[in-house]
Amino acid sequence: MVGWHHQNDGHEFDMDPDGSEQDPETKEQYASVYVGREEDIKRSERITAVVHDREVVIFYHKGEFHAMDIRCYHSGGPLHLGEIEEFDGRACIVCPWHKYKITLETGEGLYQSIDPKDPSAKPMWCSKGIKQRIHTVTVDNGNIYVTLSNEPFKCDSDYYATGIFKVIPSSF
Ligand code: FES
Repeated sequence: MVGWHHQNDGHEFDMDPDGSEQDPETKEQYASVYVGREEDIKRSERITAVVHDREVVIFYHKGEFHAMDIRCYHSGGPLHLGEIEEFDGRACIVCPWHKYKITLETGEGLYQSIDPKDPSAKPMWCSKGIKQRIHTVTVDNGNIYVTLSNEPFKCDSDYYATGIFKVIPSSF
């Protein structure tokens, strides 16, 4: 009998020797998918693509490519229609619906906070943590590929990247 953990005459045969066995639902290895020519994306500065049934936006900003789920983690807003601005020195996409700010690099939600005991103090930029799933962009010979994140954590934007929300209507 062959199995993931097979015990036989005192010897254990472990098919997952490095202990990386995970729920296949959350640790699926995705093949990278071609999304366009490097020169075209540099020119347009953003494109949208469907990668393994997941809609993503790819931005080109200050010499770097960034890919993330297309719908905002807050309420599903179309991030490909937002503006890129810097907050606290970090490039963010600003959602066109309610102006949430999401870092291009890490998918963190940024917000400003003030000390209620000292209302005159300058508001500070803070992070809510990773809210938008970031995917990997690879440049190869003038072609751009996206590899979906398989990080097994629950990211808020997953909700709008699956099920009935997963394809954004072209009427946005
Ligand atoms: S949907 Fe993006 S800020 Fe509300």
